[in-house]
Amino acid sequence: MYRFDIINHLIQRYDYQRYLEIGVETGEAFNNVQYAVKHGVDPFSENATFRIPSDEFFAMIHDDVEYDLIFVDGLHVEDQAQSDIENALLHLSDGGTIVVHDCNPPTEWHQRSYEEFLKKYSDWNGTTWRGFVNLRAPRPDIEMCVVDTDWGCGIVRLDGEGQDVIDLPDNYSYTDFHARRKEWLNLIPVEAFLQTLA
Ligand SMILES: C[S@@+](CC[C@H](N)C(=O)[O-])C[C@H]1O[C@@H](n2cnc3c(N)ncnc32)[C@H](O)[C@@H]1O
Repeated sequence: MYRFDIINHLIQRYDYQRYLEIGVETGEAFNNVQYAVKHGVDPFSENATFRIPSDEFFAMIHDDVEYDLIFVDGLHVEDQAQSDIENALLHLSDGGTIVVHDCNPPTEWHQRSYEEFLKKYSDWNGTTWRGFVNLRAPRPDIEMCVVDTDWGCGIVRLDGEGQDVIDLPDNYSYTDFHARRKEWLNLIPVEAFLQTLA
C-alpha cells in the first residue's frame, strides 16, 4: 500500500473535499488523489499550485482557511517537518487528518543529513521521525500513529481518543529510536489501519 492509497482510503471513508500537499515534486501522490479542491506547495516543483516554501505558504493564508486532509512531505528535516505538522494542525478541519510521509527510516543511513543527501540523491527519509516524535511526546490530545508501509506514513488526528504520551530522553539518538520505534511511532500494520476505517 502506497501513501496515496492511504490518502484515498481516508477520502472515501470521511468524504473529504479539500486537500493540501506540502512537497509535490513530480506529482506522483498529487496526481493520484481525487479531490474537489487540491492545492500543492513546493518551491521547486512546476506541479505545485504555490511555488513557495511551506513556511511562506502558511504565513500567507488566512487563519480560517481549512483543509480536510493535509499531506506533509516537504523538507525531511526535523524542525521543518515538525513546523509543517504544527502549521497543518492549525488549518485542519473538524474530523480532518494529517498524513506525514517518511516517518520510519529503516536504517541510520536513511536519516542522514540533508547535506549528505544533496551530495548523492538516493533513498532519504531524513529526520522527519524526530519532528513526529517531538510532537507526540507532550501532546496526549493528539492521536498519532504510523502505518508501517511506504517508508512510514504518519496519521495525525485531533478528534480521536488521544494517546499515551511517550517519554523521550534528552539528546535521544537514532539508536534509541531503533530500539523503541514501535512505541515511539505507535507503529501499526496496514491491516490495523484499515480496521480503523471500517
Ligand atoms: C519527497 S518529495 C515529495 C514527494 C511527493 N509528495 C510524492 O509523494 O510524490 C519532497 C519535496 O519537498 C519539496 N520541498 C523542499 N523544501 C520545501 C519547503 N520548504 N516547502 C515545501 N516543499 C519543499 C522538494 O522540492 C521536493 O519536491
